[in-house]
Amino acid sequence: MRVFITGVSSGIGRVLARQLIAAGHEVWGVARREHQLKELRQELNSSKFFYSVCDVKNEKAVLKLREEMMKSGYFPSMFILNAAVDIEEPLPHLSTEISRETLRTNLEGALILVNLFIDHCLGKENCQFIAISSLFAHWPDTSSVAYAASKAGLTMAFRSLRLRYREFGVLFKVVYLGPVDTEINPRFAKQDGEKARYWVTSPENASRFIIKSASKPGHTFYYPWYVSVLIQLFGWLPDGLFEAITRSFKR
Ligand SMILES: NC(=O)c1ccc[n+]([C@@H]2O[C@H](COP(=O)([O-])OP(=O)(O)OC[C@H]3O[C@@H](n4cnc5c(N)ncnc54)[C@H](OP(=O)(O)O)[C@@H]3O)[C@@H](O)[C@H]2O)c1
Repeated sequence: MRVFITGVSSGIGRVLARQLIAAGHEVWGVARREHQLKELRQELNSSKFFYSVCDVKNEKAVLKLREEMMKSGYFPSMFILNAAVDIEEPLPHLSTEISRETLRTNLEGALILVNLFIDHCLGKENCQFIAISSLFAHWPDTSSVAYAASKAGLTMAFRSLRLRYREFGVLFKVVYLGPVDTEINPRFAKQDGEKARYWVTSPENASRFIIKSASKPGHTFYYPWYVSVLIQLFGWLPDGLFEAITRSFKR
């Protein structure tokens, strides 16, 4: 299978590339940090891994990337929209710049990708887009207001896309993740010497789950299990109560 992944320079995206290549698939990955991409290329040492330096917010750059892929005959059947930023905004100030960067990367960047590649998927069998979402698509995040909004927006966009393209056979799946030990959020990244926290999962486990979701029927997936409970069963909790319960887990 040919896979396209955004955000392969670190964290879950990097592990996804590693696991998919090990399973014999081809991967074209993008991110902004060239050094990390080169390093991954060296580590994988595989003719099945391709990469481009590309900022998903930049529509012209994504258009150029699409041309490059099509020219080389690389037609993905799976698109994993994983690139994101989560920038902490210490109280009491808010920054328009941070809000814009977050919404443009996490929401607009994903939609640019769908908009530019949807035509290529129409009429093809088993073409799917997978959005990597978060518990914060359903619950407020006081540390990063725009992050929660971007994930809620991405999720709703995918719900609409799923219905819109149902008759064309293109699948739109959403994977909701709980805290993962990566660099996106220092609150969840394991510090040297620190014991593993049971509620924070590893990027390896998260990636394995995402890959499994790709071959499963259904469109909405939760990992780990408690994310499903918090979203589906405790959705009725008042926001303030949820915030109070989870506050100690966040710091
Ligand atoms: N870690 C968690 O606790 C957690 C929880 C729920 C959901 N998630 C979701 O999981 C996904 C992966 O995050 P992660 O935890 O693996 O974090 P990460 O290690 O920070 O990875 C984020 C990736 O996105 C890329 N990226 C950011 N802005 C970009 C842009 N404008 N253009 C292209 N690439 C860009 C980064 O690469 P460059 O900086 O090189 O561009 C990096 O490769 C995200 O969607 C995140 O929201 C994570």
